[in-house]
Amino acid sequence: MRVLAIPALFASAFMLAGCGQGEAPQQAVAPAAPAAPVSTVTVRQIMLGLVIPAADVVWGVANEAPADDAAWEKVAASAAMIAEAGNLMSTGERVVDQAEWLTYVKAMRDAATAAAAGAAAKNVDQTSDAGNTLYETCDTCHMKYMLAREGK
Ligand code: HEC
Repeated sequence: MRVLAIPALFASAFMLAGCGQGEAPQQAVAPAAPAAPVSTVTVRQIMLGLVIPAADVVWGVANEAPADDAAWEKVAASAAMIAEAGNLMSTGERVVDQAEWLTYVKAMRDAATAAAAGAAAKNVDQTSDAGNTLYETCDTCHMKYMLAREGK
């Protein structure tokens, strides 16, 4: 990788120097690497599209134990996606403020990670206990940030 990157750097340095002097470089320049993806989803979309459906799967374990390995794997993946939603909520415009937001997001991620561990162990009690903690983390954040947004 390193060996390949160096000529690319030289090529772009040459191109910049060339531009500065109003000359086009003679040799072909490799196409630029695609830009890093930019995530623009809102917190609301993360809630509706990811967190709510995934949480329903996790909370479902308390009502009915997953029937087989595939069902457990789905629970574990859903819990992991809630933790991943926490990563999305910790970046960009979605970081609402520097007060409790990141603390509440981390609480959700930790509970979701614990639920994922419970599902990986195929343990109903461990998964639903973590699911209860998870529910509290949803509620704690909403009490501050959902009401605040509605001006209440
Ligand atoms: C760190 C803060 C935070 C956490 C944690 C959080 N939410 Fe939310 N949630 C919000 C905010 C902010 C909104 C309001 C979004 C909007 O309407 O713009 C919201 C909205 C919602 C809504 C309302 C959607 C609607 O129809 O208006 C639901 C339901 C919801 N969240 C479910 C959950 C669940 C389930 C969890 C936990 C697994 C959770 N949330 C965790 C911040 C959070």
